[in-house]
Amino acid sequence: MSNTPHIVLLPGDGIGPEVTRSALRVLIEAGLRATCEERAIGWREWCERGEPLPPETLEAVRGADATLMGAITSKPEGEAARELAPSLRGHGLRYRSPIVRLRQELDLFAGLRPARAWAGPDGACVAGARRGTDILTVRESTEGLYCGIEVEDVDGDYAVMVHHELSLLRERTRGRMAMSVRITTEHASRRVVRVAMEEAKKRAKETGKPARVTLLEKPNILRATGGLMLEAARAVAVDYPDVVLEIENIDAACMHIVMDPARYGVVVAENLFGDIFSDLAAGLAGGPGLAPSASVGDRHALFEPVHGSAPDLAGRGIANPIAAILSGAMLAAHIGQGEVALRVERAVEITLRESNASTLTPDLGGRGTTEMLTEAVMRKLCSNDDKR
Ligand code: NAI
Ligand code: MG
Repeated sequence: MSNTPHIVLLPGDGIGPEVTRSALRVLIEAGLRATCEERAIGWREWCERGEPLPPETLEAVRGADATLMGAITSKPEGEAARELAPSLRGHGLRYRSPIVRLRQELDLFAGLRPARAWAGPDGACVAGARRGTDILTVRESTEGLYCGIEVEDVDGDYAVMVHHELSLLRERTRGRMAMSVRITTEHASRRVVRVAMEEAKKRAKETGKPARVTLLEKPNILRATGGLMLEAARAVAVDYPDVVLEIENIDAACMHIVMDPARYGVVVAENLFGDIFSDLAAGLAGGPGLAPSASVGDRHALFEPVHGSAPDLAGRGIANPIAAILSGAMLAAHIGQGEVALRVERAVEITLRESNASTLTPDLGGRGTTEMLTEAVMRKLCSNDDKR
């Protein structure tokens, strides 16, 4: 990494530009050292150019030390085709999610989704969050049930070719049959578990509590794929004697997290399980406006709020910027500026603890604006900064 890290900003659609602007302002105020360039991505690029992820954007992201993204609008294929500029129609262009493509192109194999309940002014947690929730879901992001291998109409021949069980099923049932395949490789399972182990070690250092990773799987039913994931996790755990590896069934975990969110710290799971569990955790921690995320690979990393482009809020100035600001803090930590990350997180913590209805955005029960909440966070940076 060069002396001054380089960041690419992808504001995207809807509230994306509004919340990334807030995040950038806070990061700069917190003392982030980086050069920064903005690039286009998303719906407008699709409509005007037929390419939601323009090649020059992909190149810029490839060359950057980290990327901060807002959100992107995606629409079903038919709608996407209708909104294409007239000159581009009829050329067989197909909309593909630029986020999915970015993850694949940059091999961003681990999704890191922290969900933390923040204390509010009245002793309760902000946005009805459940006290004690402080979970990091590490989600495998390249394969699993989202690998994209799907068959819309499984016919008899195909069923015979694939598996005996499937051909029996095909014989017994009438009507259409569809199939989505889960792929699990040892390689992808091991590397994502390794990320979880490293995160658990970092957490243990910060909190002084024992390091622990919970693997969420279903190996008793999904013997092949779940079994391989389990084996991979156990193999990696050998290299981490200080980290306790726990194994839990994903369905039971969904019940336990609701009953006792404090039970979980760092969890790791395949793509679909991780997607669902992290949304559950984010819900228990106060909802989309507070949930940041990172997608990391060996060479690249992309940071974005978990939420989408929220067309219902776009242009109204009332989107909650905290998820984007916290994503920015994760970015700062990733490029080696942990002190900036900490300063931002502390400012968010204090802002939320001392907040009132006039600073909080409507999703948090207030009547404030994106601007007001952003400025409140920036003020806390200044008043609690003894180093500058
Ligand atoms: P969404 O996350 O945009 O919105 C869901 C609900 O949460 C809405 O009621 C919205 O008002 C609220 N919300 C979201 N962010 C908020 C914030 N910062 N502050 C306050 N409230 C917030 O998901 P939805 O409506 O399903 O999708 C909208 C568009 O976003 C779609 O085109 C979808 O494809 C896209 N999307 C993009 C994602 C991304 O860029 N990573 C992720 C999820 C959806
Ligand atoms: Mg999701």
